[in-house]
Amino acid sequence: MNSNLIPVGIIGTGSYVPEQIITNKDLEKIVDTSDEWIVTRTGISERRKAESHIASSDMGVIAAQRAIEAAGIKATEIDLIIVATITPDMLFPSTACIIQDKLGATNAAAFDLSAACTGFIYGLSVAAQYIATGMYKYVLVIGTETLSRIIHPADRSTLILFGDGAGAALLGPVKEGGILSFDLGADGSGTMLLYQEAGGSRVPASLESVQQGKHYLTMMGNDVFKFAVRIMGETSLKALNKIGLTCADIDFLIPHQANIRIVDAAVKRLQLPPSKVYINLDKYGNMSGASIPVALDEAVRGKKIKKGDMIVLVGFGAGLTWGSCVLDWIY
Ligand code: UT7
Repeated sequence: MNSNLIPVGIIGTGSYVPEQIITNKDLEKIVDTSDEWIVTRTGISERRKAESHIASSDMGVIAAQRAIEAAGIKATEIDLIIVATITPDMLFPSTACIIQDKLGATNAAAFDLSAACTGFIYGLSVAAQYIATGMYKYVLVIGTETLSRIIHPADRSTLILFGDGAGAALLGPVKEGGILSFDLGADGSGTMLLYQEAGGSRVPASLESVQQGKHYLTMMGNDVFKFAVRIMGETSLKALNKIGLTCADIDFLIPHQANIRIVDAAVKRLQLPPSKVYINLDKYGNMSGASIPVALDEAVRGKKIKKGDMIVLVGFGAGLTWGSCVLDWIY
């Protein structure tokens, strides 16, 4: 970061996952799959599912309250709320506005950000600019997803992967350390590798769009897999290189929790021992924008991360998008 800018750090984290657990055995009863296939191909054993009356804002609020409490500030001190989600409560207004109201964060501006599974890292990068320039003091970044609402119940290639949950981080000015660098990227030529076709302006909701299942997530799993295996290591190295670090400097990696084989490829590229990588995809599957903040919060609360550790957050997702963030952990 430019030396004229105010150092920015994460000063509190929080997360929430719904109680209902869907195991691989449960899915065996719904689609033609097996626990063995799912574990071998993805590393996922179970995922969480929100009750039907729960939407993304409801989970996001709980994660946010926990992050605010961890940071030791009042909701009214928050200047901006950014919500990264592909499963907003409604297309508009933003889920961030709904959460702002529920939190009583009456002094905060609020907007949603669309970068799919990379959304939380994109959100951190936006939040960091406001604080670094002195425009805002406290910015809340939330990743929250109710993916169970957009997965076709009969599509075994996606049903097994995704889960519901929310994670949040409160960012503020710090004396030293904190966020050191980002690498962000996008390749829109990959739009049709992972998308939800209907409900927007190109294919508005209609009887036909519903009957044709166009409101469900569609994914070219193999293509996304190949992209992910390449990009996770690449973007992490770019963010490290920007500040003169190498993979040998990483104390802890928090990757997007999409598939254990994708994480393993990144870990191999970054030459990290398993003890330096946080994995919770076995319990929660892929929670898109919520995956990284939930993993970060668990690592913080589980004391896997300590003050002075060099942390890399890294993700990829629909768009295609990717991103990484290097942090010198401050507490
Ligand atoms: O946040 C970003 C989101 N997306 C991702 O991260 C997805 C990245 N992609 C992946 O993780 C993997 O591509 C998948 C887990 C989705 C699929 O694994 P794969 O090793 O790439 O399998 P595949 O798609 O090549 O399919 C192999 C076979 C196919 O059968 P045939 O055509 O060989 O007869 C599939 O129909 O496995 C079949 N298959 C299944 N079999 C049992 C696909 N899903 C299942 C299933 N259970 N759930």
